[in-house]
Amino acid sequence: MTKSKSIYKRFWIVLSLFLFCNYSIFFLFQNKVQHIYNSLEGSSLHVTRRTASTGALVINRTQTFSKRNKITANIWKTSDITNDRILAQKYFKPEVNTTLPPKYIYPQNGASSWSVRTGKDIFVEHECPIQHCSILGSVLNPETKVDARLFKENDLGISDVRPFLNEVKRFAEQVWIFFALESPMASPNYNNLNSVINWTATYRPDSTVVAPYEKWVPFDNFTELRNVSKNYADGKTKKAAAFISNCGASNNRLAYIKMLQTYIDVDIFGNCGNKECSKYNGKTCFDMLSKDYKFYLAFENANCRHYITEKFFLNALQNDIIPVVMGAHPDDYLRAAPPGSYIHVEDFPTVNALADYLHKLDQNDYLYNQYFRWKGTGSFIDTKFWCRICAMLWDPKMPQLQVSSLEEWWRPKDICVSTWNNIVWDDQKPNSPTREERSENKSSISRL
Ligand SMILES: *[C@@H]1O[C@H](CO)[C@@H](O)[C@H](O)[C@H]1NC(C)=O
Ligand SMILES: *[C@@H]1O[C@H](CO)[C@@H](O)[C@H](O)[C@H]1NC(C)=O
Ligand SMILES: *[C@@H]1O[C@H](CO)[C@@H](O)[C@H](O)[C@H]1NC(C)=O
Ligand SMILES: *[C@@H]1O[C@H](CO)[C@@H](O)[C@H](O)[C@H]1NC(C)=O
Ligand SMILES: *[C@@H]1O[C@H](CO)[C@@H](O)[C@H](O)[C@H]1NC(C)=O
Ligand SMILES: *[C@@H]1O[C@H](CO)[C@@H](O)[C@H](O)[C@H]1NC(C)=O
Repeated sequence: MTKSKSIYKRFWIVLSLFLFCNYSIFFLFQNKVQHIYNSLEGSSLHVTRRTASTGALVINRTQTFSKRNKITANIWKTSDITNDRILAQKYFKPEVNTTLPPKYIYPQNGASSWSVRTGKDIFVEHECPIQHCSILGSVLNPETKVDARLFKENDLGISDVRPFLNEVKRFAEQVWIFFALESPMASPNYNNLNSVINWTATYRPDSTVVAPYEKWVPFDNFTELRNVSKNYADGKTKKAAAFISNCGASNNRLAYIKMLQTYIDVDIFGNCGNKECSKYNGKTCFDMLSKDYKFYLAFENANCRHYITEKFFLNALQNDIIPVVMGAHPDDYLRAAPPGSYIHVEDFPTVNALADYLHKLDQNDYLYNQYFRWKGTGSFIDTKFWCRICAMLWDPKMPQLQVSSLEEWWRPKDICVSTWNNIVWDDQKPNSPTREERSENKSSISRL
């Protein structure tokens, strides 16, 4: 009897030990996996993301990089956002009858406000496949046969634009083009512009003429990401830098940065920080970034689909620094950016998790250098905006197009959000306000 009791006792000890170990391993495992987010292997980038509380997997995606072929796409097909048709349009060369007058393009507010000269210069200088077009500086005679009119987002922002739009006679085959560089958060209301615009020309891949801030294209000889030939971490003594001049952005980027500062050193340059680097001395600022800093916070002023500006393409990618991005949806960066070139804040459930990952890269040069493997595998191309407009106007198969509601096209629901993946900002303090509470106090945060 005593023997069986002691076996019984031993059984319980073993069982509790077993459970304890299992629990610890589970706990360790949970903690560990939460810190694994991105890894590059061969020519694949894996991104995983887990929730902060339960460790449940919410993102698990793999992007494989391979040579993207020159596209022979339908230049008019806007429905496939994985194909921006830029290359197809750039090399498009329809038959042109040069005994006919050129296609006249009239940019609103004068050619100079579009950084273009009047006449044929731009088409000749850019060695366009089709050069039989001409930029008009003004339309003195309302009967002048204008083939295309270009408007910037703010040209169309006055309450009743119609009288002003009637200054040029509108023929049935004349196309009116809406051009936008700013995000929907920063452009006026277009409620009175139904069935007025024919083509769109914006950074969005579903525009008629896609006009991104920059376009990266892999070289023809690109097969795989190579190992870097130098150590990009060499000599860098500082962690992260941000250049922010608009302190009240709709995505609350400054509040995020301030939270990030509690975990890792971030130097804020510009109006909203205490560091200075004159804008007029751009080159020096960027040299300093490349030389001293590991990370550049390329945070856009709004989180809107496809909205990725020169902050990312020029300030960060063209310098030797890893961009940490906030702005467009993670899928949009995946499509537009060179492979494995950046870190998206929304791949991390919390600010703390992002900071952990940055610390990890900071301490491991091998991992840090993985983010530069895209260098030398492709280039930022001239998208030849004016050439494309000219060639498309000469297409004998040019379709009749119209945007039935510009406002609905430009500003559909959820085109801009405060966060794409519900990242948590206040993971530091247990009693800190929730994101909902925080967004109620958004205006006070914006004024910081
Ligand atoms: C992620 O997806 C890949 C491919 O679908 C799969 O092999 C892998 O096990 C997944 N990872 C996790 C952690 O579930
Ligand atoms: C070119 O246009 C002119 C003037 O309209 C016309 O007379 C001529 O037949 C056209 N040529 C071709 C090859 O279509
Ligand atoms: C690939 O092509 C680019 C641009 O044409 C060139 O600069 C580069 O040296 C080439 N790389 C190789 C490995 O041939
Ligand atoms: C890149 O470097 C790693 C680690 O040094 C090595 O194992 C791998 O074979 C290298 N890959 C190439 C393509 O050179
Ligand atoms: C441009 O839009 C107007 C107004 O909706 C329409 O009448 C015209 O047919 C369109 N033209 C072209 C060439 O798409
Ligand atoms: C929001 O602002 C009000 C008034 O300034 C303040 O009393 C409240 O504590 C704030 N709430 C949060 C969650 O910060």
